Amino acid sequence: MKQLQQKILFWYNKHKRDLPWRKTRNPYHILVSEVMLQQTQVDRVIPYYLRWLKKFPTIEKLARAQPRTVLNYWSGLGYNNRALRLQQTAKTLEGKSFPKTEEELKALPGIGPYTARAILSFAFNKEVPVIDTNIRRILIHELKLKENTLPLELEERAKKLIPKGKSRIWHNALMDYGAIHLTSRKTGIKSLSKQSKFEGSERQARGKILKLLLAQKTISLISLKQKGFHNNIDHIIAKMVKENIIIKEARSIRLR
Ligand code: ADE
Repeated sequence: MKQLQQKILFWYNKHKRDLPWRKTRNPYHILVSEVMLQQTQVDRVIPYYLRWLKKFPTIEKLARAQPRTVLNYWSGLGYNNRALRLQQTAKTLEGKSFPKTEEELKALPGIGPYTARAILSFAFNKEVPVIDTNIRRILIHELKLKENTLPLELEERAKKLIPKGKSRIWHNALMDYGAIHLTSRKTGIKSLSKQSKFEGSERQARGKILKLLLAQKTISLISLKQKGFHNNIDHIIAKMVKENIIIKEARSIRLR
């Protein structure tokens, strides 16, 4: 094994985080964790992940749940259409064997190249390069690459580093090494995407609307406009209708 691999695996052996999705190889459970982790911090995801799997322990349970229940168990994590897409995926997969190729996984709603490979590595130990913000930073720093290195080049370099037969542990090690040790502050390497501000955002307004609808079934359009909810409330409602989260009636909205 190369020096870099030994260094990171040695570090991981001492410092690894005890995360619930590392105790399973159930691809559905891994999928849930990765979708939750897409835009949300590890510490915030843990209680949601555990609660979700108690309620929806199998693909079948999730596929057959009421959308209202699904949204309720997601509410607070943000980007709620992730929950509905996850349910769509569950409906597609119900009764089938879980896909084991990147192409099949990417064909599912809400699963992009990153999530597809994370599932392949964490559930099936397949030797595919998984590159999130933290791993990208490690690659750039350790291999002395330019910050504008193209994703395809990063992938090629990353693939060569995966120790034979150890994809799962290697990628877990990289994630912890990047999150805890080789931080953005230490390296000065900036992440590519920064989440936009939450206060006053569309995202925040959508979260509030969802919480209200989970509590009281319908909301009148008038009340949404009076409460100074958001200056773009019509646009937000239109989007939520289009995404199949809510239904708009003459004077009110409700959950689908
Ligand atoms: N971020 C995305 N996936 C993760 C994982 N499996 N472990 C820790 N952080 C992550």
